[in-house]
Amino acid sequence: MVPKAEIHCHIEGAASPALIMTQARKYGVDTSDFLRDGAYHWTDFTSFLAAYDAAASLFRSEEDYALLAEDYLTSLAREGAIYSEILISPDHAERAGLSRIAYTNALGEGIARAQAATGITGRIVVTGVRHFGAAAVEDAARFAVACGHPLVTGFGMAGDERFGNVRDFAPAFDIAREAGLGLTVHAGEFGGWESVEAALNHIRPARIGHGVRAIENPDLVRRLADEGTVLEVCPVSNIVLKVFPDFARHPLPALVEAGCRVTLNSDDPPHFHTSIGNEYEVAQEVFGFDDAALAAFTRTAIEAAFIDAATRAALLEAMGDKTVAQ
Ligand code: ADE
Ligand code: ZN
Repeated sequence: MVPKAEIHCHIEGAASPALIMTQARKYGVDTSDFLRDGAYHWTDFTSFLAAYDAAASLFRSEEDYALLAEDYLTSLAREGAIYSEILISPDHAERAGLSRIAYTNALGEGIARAQAATGITGRIVVTGVRHFGAAAVEDAARFAVACGHPLVTGFGMAGDERFGNVRDFAPAFDIAREAGLGLTVHAGEFGGWESVEAALNHIRPARIGHGVRAIENPDLVRRLADEGTVLEVCPVSNIVLKVFPDFARHPLPALVEAGCRVTLNSDDPPHFHTSIGNEYEVAQEVFGFDDAALAAFTRTAIEAAFIDAATRAALLEAMGDKTVAQ
């Protein structure tokens, strides 16, 4: 099996419908608005974000979050992943009644439990939610810097890319950059190539969440390749959310061909009926990437991971070992 790594998965979006039903019973909440026949139910990006919020609201205690992270990272390891970076949202925890630090500590505890059981390495990227506004995103950046959690190594922004101007969020990223956190920002998913260009100009991130609509502008694709900006591509998410009509129209192969640094990710896996294993399978079966190309996606993810040099070297070595052993 080709070793895998994932650097773009929203932890609240990784909760399986079965876990959501358990949480709903625990808190006596009706889920019929967003869960039907044991699966998430929504119809477009706006209702997806509402389903995401509703699912997140069912995680309220430290143990709820520890279990969520432990479960998810354990499932990743079962699929052959050696590294996971989860996107977390302190705003969602606060809305569910838990302090941001209790939330972060609990997710860290879940990651530690998964590492102890499976060997998978995990890190945390604190995200602000774009449609909650620039002040909230700046607050999230201040929290990411101040929390002091050893696994918090990055800062990012998710949410509705159609909201506001990316320039307004630059001060939040300046705070995170000055503190040495790695930067990633969602762009080029529901915004066009202009959104990716604006993110590069105003945020200067090492990585872009999605970034796939850069394909609309060949000069921008060349810039991404030249600058080595890493794209956190989530192919199945893009098809299910109708960013592209089908895999034949998805730009993953074109971006690789153009020399862009690309990784494979599941985004919000049960919402899109996917998993990290399925993303690699789609890359192979649908796009025709061979094992060496799949391993290159993993290597890029580890090269772009928000980790110290010793952890990176250990993961690259583990990757080599696993590639030879399997
Ligand atoms: N939050 C969770 N999933 C997201 C996505 N695909 N795009 C933007 N924000 C998100
Ligand atoms: Zn995302």
